Amino acid sequence: MKKRSFLLAVALSASFGAYAQAPIVIKFSHVVATDTPKGKAADFFAKRAAELTKGRVKVEVYPNSQLYKDKEEMEALQLGSVQMLAPSLSKFAPLGVREFEVFDLPYLFDNYDELHKVTQGPVGKSLLDKLQPKGITGLAYWDNGFKSFSANRPLHAPADFKGLKMRIQSSKVLDAQMRALGAIPQVMAFSEVYQALQTGVVDGTENPHSNLYTQKMYEVQKDMTLSNHGYLGYAVVVNKKFWDGLPADIRTELNQAMTEATKVANDDAKQDNDNALAKVKASGKTNVYTPTDAEKTALKKALIPVHKQMASRIGEDTIKAIYKETG
Ligand code: LMR
Repeated sequence: MKKRSFLLAVALSASFGAYAQAPIVIKFSHVVATDTPKGKAADFFAKRAAELTKGRVKVEVYPNSQLYKDKEEMEALQLGSVQMLAPSLSKFAPLGVREFEVFDLPYLFDNYDELHKVTQGPVGKSLLDKLQPKGITGLAYWDNGFKSFSANRPLHAPADFKGLKMRIQSSKVLDAQMRALGAIPQVMAFSEVYQALQTGVVDGTENPHSNLYTQKMYEVQKDMTLSNHGYLGYAVVVNKKFWDGLPADIRTELNQAMTEATKVANDDAKQDNDNALAKVKASGKTNVYTPTDAEKTALKKALIPVHKQMASRIGEDTIKAIYKETG
């Protein structure tokens, strides 16, 4: 009898011990390949989170839409089925935070330096704060890069876009951008783009080179124009209730891991995109076209009116604040 209760006590304490030591799991879902700026930063964050918390936190990264596609991942975050995401800034408007679509305005930023004035300054912070009432806490901005247009025909002038079905992310600004070129925008989850291009469901698309390359879109697009017409980047977000419920010391360590991961993302994004472009060129599958100055001017002239057109949707104040910060 005595021996049995002793064994029971040992078994119970062992299981409580195991319970006490069970790590806090953060499921981090994303839609891109691991070998991209976001994929690498997510993996780096997972590694540093484990190191800094000495194993008390385990970040499980699910890349490539393995767990959820674009729209579902946002719902899963709000429901708490995943704890962390890094959706592109174009994907927040369906939550009701339309201000994020400001980042989709064509030619808003000339380069990463201008962009960082926003994402690393007060305007960027105030945009992240707007997610709180949606049950979401914004932790950081991670870069990807500047987009190129692609299709199965040369895209040199606005007239070349006429009638093309172009895949876009779920953003009304991107919709207006494609319409301004005479194209027909089609919202589609990122995970479906390759097949849609391959089967001709859509004719073309836009993305930074790291995505065009790792999703193999270039294999089914004969032409790509280095248009640099817009930016694509990310907000790293967590479920607010989950985040607020973490022990304070853990939150501090995770914030540190996030600061380091953000540096990795933002230091490497440009190089990653340059490397991806070099690989697309080397493949010989896609004609990569650099527009002339006159062509750039014509594209810009067609697209700049989108700023005015979308001002009431995004909010004049947000647009003006960004114009001010970027000079
Ligand atoms: C897209 O849907 O094209 C991008 O947002 C994918 C991504 O997360 O980079």
